[in-house]
Amino acid sequence: MSGTTALELAAAGRAAPRERAAALRRLARRRTALFGAVVVALTVAVALAAPWVAPFDPYAQDLAHRLRPPGWRDPAGGLHVLGTDRAGLYARQDRLDARQARELGRALCQRCAGVPIQHLTGEQAFRRLTLEVRPGVFIPRPETEILVEVALAAVRDVEAPVVVDVGTGTGAIALAIKDERPDATVLATDVAPEAVELARANAARLGLEVDVREGDLLGPLPEELRGWVDLVVSNPPYVPPEEYEDLPPEVKADPPEALLGGTEVYERLAAEAERWLRDGGALAVEIHAEAGETVAGILRRAFMDVRVRQDLAGRDRVVLGWRP
Ligand SMILES: C[S@@+](CC[C@H](N)C(=O)[O-])C[C@H]1O[C@@H](n2cnc3c(N)ncnc32)[C@H](O)[C@@H]1O
Repeated sequence: MSGTTALELAAAGRAAPRERAAALRRLARRRTALFGAVVVALTVAVALAAPWVAPFDPYAQDLAHRLRPPGWRDPAGGLHVLGTDRAGLYARQDRLDARQARELGRALCQRCAGVPIQHLTGEQAFRRLTLEVRPGVFIPRPETEILVEVALAAVRDVEAPVVVDVGTGTGAIALAIKDERPDATVLATDVAPEAVELARANAARLGLEVDVREGDLLGPLPEELRGWVDLVVSNPPYVPPEEYEDLPPEVKADPPEALLGGTEVYERLAAEAERWLRDGGALAVEIHAEAGETVAGILRRAFMDVRVRQDLAGRDRVVLGWRP
């Protein structure tokens, strides 16, 4: 209340009833005018700010960011639900409609329950490819791209190399190699029929010629390749049983047969690879961060120039050796 109004009221309190009523009417008129001015000012402010405020949909952005897979490079995997990408989200003009809100909410519930984002989107980027993923088949990890890098370097100077990916899962390693070395003959094996089916589907969808075979390690290879293989590459199951229980639910969503393993698989792989590789051929394997020296020791029994390569986090990740 202004000072003038207070004085008028005080005066009106001592004045005759007619004058007091007139003072109260004046006061009501001033209040109405003031309220109207505030409403008009707010409306103008909102109208002026709208072009900058409207594109941001904080609800959609917040949910999409919560759907981000932990430690993954693309921070907005949940945007698949909205049928957009990260840039599209920030440029959005429209708010969520009821269906989108329901779908995003459902996806958020699944994420909170530990369903990997890749099982919601049905895909995973790997090097230059986008692979289809399905429950029941190991989801390719970004650190495995280092193994592909090492594998490609190992056959850099080999014309039309023959490459075998053992335990191919979605086909990630085999397909990335074929994509980046179209002159290579690439074969892949997996013991799991679901993986073989998915790797073949990925190969067909991407138009990459990879011969995917079902069976144990190098067993399914055609006999005529014996002694002709330039490179054996593998990301075998290597999580020790004592670590399995403490893995996050996203990781446990992968089939246990694709995760659980020890050094025994490297012993078998090295022994088999030695029989299929040509002289001077290479074996490259992904390893558990704590297993560098153990696996290097296994390869040194039959391979030379055995090296351990670190990933971007500085952890031992790949062991490479050469057949004499
Ligand atoms: C850690 S996953 C790797 C999948 C894929 N190479 C990748 O990096 O995304 C291990 C894969 O090896 C397969 N596997 C396990 N034991 C095998 C064996 N003895 N012979 C062939 N494949 C095997 C599993 O089915 C699984 O698909």
